[in-house]
Amino acid sequence: MPEFSFTPRSVPRVETPFRRIVTDLPAPASLPILERLHACEPVAMRGQPPVVWHRADGFQVYDAWGNQWVDWSSGVLIANAGHGRREIVDAISAQASAHLLTNYCFPSEIRARLVEKLVAILPAPLKKVFLLTTGSETVETAIKLCRMHGVKSGGRSKNVIVSFDKSFHGRTLGAQQAGGIPALKEWIVNLDAGFVQVPFPDGYRTPDTSFSAFERSLREQSIEPQNVAGVMLETYQGGSAAFAPASYMRDLRAWCSGHKALLVCDEVQAGFGRTGKLWGFEHYGMVPDLALFGKGISSSLPLAAVAGRADVMDLPPAGSMTSTHTGNPVCCAAALASIDLILREDLAGNSARVGAVLHQKLCELASRTPQIGHVDGKGLVAGLVCVTPGTKEPDAALAWDVVRRSVEKGVLMFSPVGYGGATLKICPPLVITEAAMLDSLGAFEEAFAEAARARVVAA
Ligand SMILES: Cc1ncc(COP(=O)(O)O)c(C=O)c1O
Repeated sequence: MPEFSFTPRSVPRVETPFRRIVTDLPAPASLPILERLHACEPVAMRGQPPVVWHRADGFQVYDAWGNQWVDWSSGVLIANAGHGRREIVDAISAQASAHLLTNYCFPSEIRARLVEKLVAILPAPLKKVFLLTTGSETVETAIKLCRMHGVKSGGRSKNVIVSFDKSFHGRTLGAQQAGGIPALKEWIVNLDAGFVQVPFPDGYRTPDTSFSAFERSLREQSIEPQNVAGVMLETYQGGSAAFAPASYMRDLRAWCSGHKALLVCDEVQAGFGRTGKLWGFEHYGMVPDLALFGKGISSSLPLAAVAGRADVMDLPPAGSMTSTHTGNPVCCAAALASIDLILREDLAGNSARVGAVLHQKLCELASRTPQIGHVDGKGLVAGLVCVTPGTKEPDAALAWDVVRRSVEKGVLMFSPVGYGGATLKICPPLVITEAAMLDSLGAFEEAFAEAARARVVAA
């Protein structure tokens, strides 16, 4: 992965109602902090634009030196209800002041309130909830539940987990094997033969979006349907923001039911209003057997959840599916407050409305920009693929340059993701206004045009 330079550049000053850039970037005064991090953290923690966050409110992020960005990252899809929301801060403070900071798996009233809330807003059959801390843990749990269910319903050979090419489910051992990015699993060496991937029907990199391609791919890999314990997918692919066709997903739902395989939607990115609906799988008109949540569940503190069919969730006996920080009371307070804001302020609706503006503008930009190969996503998540004009060849250098220039104009993006590292992700907090979206899109369009011109000159 390339890195952004730590040498401050003189950049034009910016002053709009939403963005302010008043120093060179990276801010010279931030360099000692960046150097301390470099000295004490592993190299793997590098790779994002060197913006040292000081505080964040709503859809804006501030450093300590007077710069202010419109946040297009949501801190990697966390702050769905907005950064630093008063209601979330108050809930965290009240819980901390009540002197219950942890209680392991012992019961607490606030944990009861959160799982009850999730059960109330999730559709049947997702009526039992297990709380965890990270998205990767939810994926590991789903793998465990799929295999337990598979072995129970079809014997030990029913253990195959089918997932999708280019998918990302986290960085722990099982999650990486379920992932569909070969470079990320080279370190594993002894891959479990019970994890296989099939093409994701995104319609761009994989033009064949028919469900028969799923069955064909399993046949080609000599996987018998009766040996499949579960099929897991990101509701939209994080690397591209691509959704599968709804008809494909309904066929997949029927296939899983027919073969007693569990269907798992990893909603770690897609949940809690991100895509313009409360749950991403609503776009498909079907409900999975297990749904995995993280990131936007609390808009803040680390909390994650597996929701599922009661008969599946109850497979592990008492005491055999636990995690030290399950339902941490302070995290539960944050999640309850965040969910309340998302529902009360209809942030899924705002995501749909402002997202429609975002996607219309991006499609217009793409139609006049040959370096944009494709635009994907729904609601307030978009993926924009940078390519060599006239081809589908990813252009990572262009994508990185667009991110740097956007940040220098006061639009905070994380580094490019996805196939060839050339996809620009746009995912602001769901409280963003149309005015702020248009203001930041204007800056982004300038950044893109400048980067594309620089690329032509360099070539
Ligand atoms: C779809 C998806 N699943 C799982 C994960 C892993 O979550 P965590 O980083 O909290 O372990 C991520 C993280 O980016 C993700 O995007």
